[in-house]
Amino acid sequence: MMASEGWPEPVIRVQALAESGISSIPQHFIKPKSQRPTKTNSFTSQTFHHVHDENNKNNINIPVIDLQHLYGEDEKLREETLKRVSEACREWGFFQVLNHGVSHDLMKRAREVWREFFELPLEVKEEYANSPTTYEGYGSRLGVKKGAILDWSDYFFLHYMPCSLRDQTKWPSLPTSLRNVINEYGEEVVKLGGRVLELLSINLGLNDDFLLNAFGGENDLGGCLRVNFYPKCPQPDLTLGLSSHSDPGGLTILLPDDYVSGLQVRRGEDWITVKPVPNAFIINIGDQIQVLSNAIYKSIEHRVIVNSNKDRVSLAFFYNPRSDLLIQPAKELITKDRPALYPPMTFDEYRLYIRTKGPCGKAQVESLVSQK
Ligand code: OGA
Ligand code: NI
Repeated sequence: MMASEGWPEPVIRVQALAESGISSIPQHFIKPKSQRPTKTNSFTSQTFHHVHDENNKNNINIPVIDLQHLYGEDEKLREETLKRVSEACREWGFFQVLNHGVSHDLMKRAREVWREFFELPLEVKEEYANSPTTYEGYGSRLGVKKGAILDWSDYFFLHYMPCSLRDQTKWPSLPTSLRNVINEYGEEVVKLGGRVLELLSINLGLNDDFLLNAFGGENDLGGCLRVNFYPKCPQPDLTLGLSSHSDPGGLTILLPDDYVSGLQVRRGEDWITVKPVPNAFIINIGDQIQVLSNAIYKSIEHRVIVNSNKDRVSLAFFYNPRSDLLIQPAKELITKDRPALYPPMTFDEYRLYIRTKGPCGKAQVESLVSQK
């Protein structure tokens, strides 16, 4: 397809390429050896109902936290839950939550409606072809470097918050229920994000509403949805569905595919394949919370592997600060021994980096550390 407006090269829809029946992938999807998934990793990218323990070293998974006691009567259970969240933030930067308050039926409908969208004919999706100016719409790459090695995925990116950026005419009009489902889903996920920000604020020893206020408050915070479609791939060992990156925003609330695994989280030199728990969300800390917490919490590198049997769909909701506010380490978390590690910066300015260079591990946030 030649929907190349603003992009350095003609855009190739990965789904169309995958469906064309090729048996080897084009050169520009082949990652350098050091970035390719290792044998054990690609072996895990099966339908996870059928994955056995040996696929993940020692059967490790990111923490799974049940939130049901947070708003209950029992103070001890509440404290216990807060502590589990605190440990997960410090040790993993990634965790799954259960009893999160979002309707399971809505989660299912959101996944289904987006699957149906990606199953529509290419011409229908091309009406929403995006450009690197805002990234809103149907896209197939992140970054504008000519000659870049690309990821094996397509996506749809849209703004949900603030309301002033919510333009439903930029959202798919088909399937007919899609816009309503996004509205409903966005509302519930934003509520969940607010609750998680409150837990993080408390655990950092800040006022309950510190992070929410730093993000601009409930009416002005930013919220975007990126729906990822990872087509099956004839050579999954040579490429990635999404290259290693940390999320540039605040929090990410991910609804993973209900059948196919693929998300991997970096743990030292290892990549841990996340095993999604049914009806859970996967939550991870983004760079803006690393900055606000003065690196008490760190955003963690993650990537997505693909497989040769099954397409995979995921919904990543990015819960972000209002994009024109200065984000900097909380004064309460700056001490003589631990000076502010990052200079103030708006999220608008911050996200230009990934939008230009594409996913680059943690290169951006690390480049910011003040040399004091
Ligand atoms: C992302 C992301 C993970 C996934 O969209 O930033 O990391 O499992 N997605 O699709
Ligand atoms: Ni991510």
